[in-house]
Amino acid sequence: MKSLPNNLKNKIVLLRVDINSDIKNGKVILGERIKQSAETINLLKKRKAKTVVIAHQGRPGKSDFLSLKQHAKLLNKFTKIKFVDDIIGKKAEIEIKNLKNREAILLDNIRKLKDEFNPGNNKIIKFFAPLVDIYINDAFSVCHRKQTSIVSFPKYFKSCAGPFLEKEIDALKKIKIKNCLYVLGGAKPSDNIKLFGKNKVLACGLFGQVCFINKGKKLGQQERYLKKGKYFIKIPKNKLKNVETPVDFAVRINSKRIEIPVENFPSKYKIFDIGRLTIKKYAEEIKKAKAIYMKGPAGDCADKIFCKGTFAILRAISKNNGFSLIGGGHLSDAVEASGISKKKFGHVSLSGGALLRYLAGEKLPGLEVLK
Ligand code: 3PG
Repeated sequence: MKSLPNNLKNKIVLLRVDINSDIKNGKVILGERIKQSAETINLLKKRKAKTVVIAHQGRPGKSDFLSLKQHAKLLNKFTKIKFVDDIIGKKAEIEIKNLKNREAILLDNIRKLKDEFNPGNNKIIKFFAPLVDIYINDAFSVCHRKQTSIVSFPKYFKSCAGPFLEKEIDALKKIKIKNCLYVLGGAKPSDNIKLFGKNKVLACGLFGQVCFINKGKKLGQQERYLKKGKYFIKIPKNKLKNVETPVDFAVRINSKRIEIPVENFPSKYKIFDIGRLTIKKYAEEIKKAKAIYMKGPAGDCADKIFCKGTFAILRAISKNNGFSLIGGGHLSDAVEASGISKKKFGHVSLSGGALLRYLAGEKLPGLEVLK
């Protein structure tokens, strides 16, 4: 895998980053992915590049599928970058051709283009081919996706790994997590179940609720929300035998956090966190563990009153003397917000699904093609 060249003077660089962020009421929350991407953009500027940044936010059809306009505003807190409300149209072409050394532009959400999901010599490749000198992948967290901006550019353009992608691979090479306790949360159940096997799993977040329902239990309003939002997947019961599910949940009643034991479900309230009984139960398991991998938050961390579960679980992990790995964009933001020093964990990664597959021994298409 090639590293970033030292001199990029007069070169048009196509930089793929991951700034996929937490969204609260339509507002993009500033997180570590945005800060890290700004660092890479600044590095490219130092090397005199003309930088064209491509990235995604959410998935088509989901509520977090947004334009990158707000991301540009947040990036501008750390670097100067212009948002271009276009991807492969005339507007984008003019902006790219007009770029000067040390200038950067951010194009709109690449997932707005259907061809992002049809990798190959498609319209996206054909648009950038005459414009771009070099492609840089600094989005380890998207390297598990067979999407144009990840797997096709390296096939057609001169390409190399970005600084954070390289750093992540170096850190992960040193990690061996056998006999590990998995604390799996977040909202991507089909990623999480890849880790199901002999190891114990403490399920939380939307994932914990999905496991709970698959154990044959009822949640009520939250169950309808999970199914409507396509967060729900069917998991065979035999796969759930090593999976612990929450014993209580926190809901919002009149703007207050109220905890309800699972015996009192189905309920008309939506769930936003695990409750203190679950925290206590999971913290005891964490205390005994030799190695721990946590992916995804335990609750809705965009809301202060529902950070409690995630912060408490992170605190318990930070006190364990074994190796710990923290993964996922939202969870790494939660580490930052919790005030717990990153040094208390073995490694904090901004990747979720990609990290999980890497650890499960799968080859990541985005890395393979860079080799
Ligand atoms: C992530 O948040 O894990 C990455 O941005 C990839 O997002 P995706 O799961 O929607 O492909």
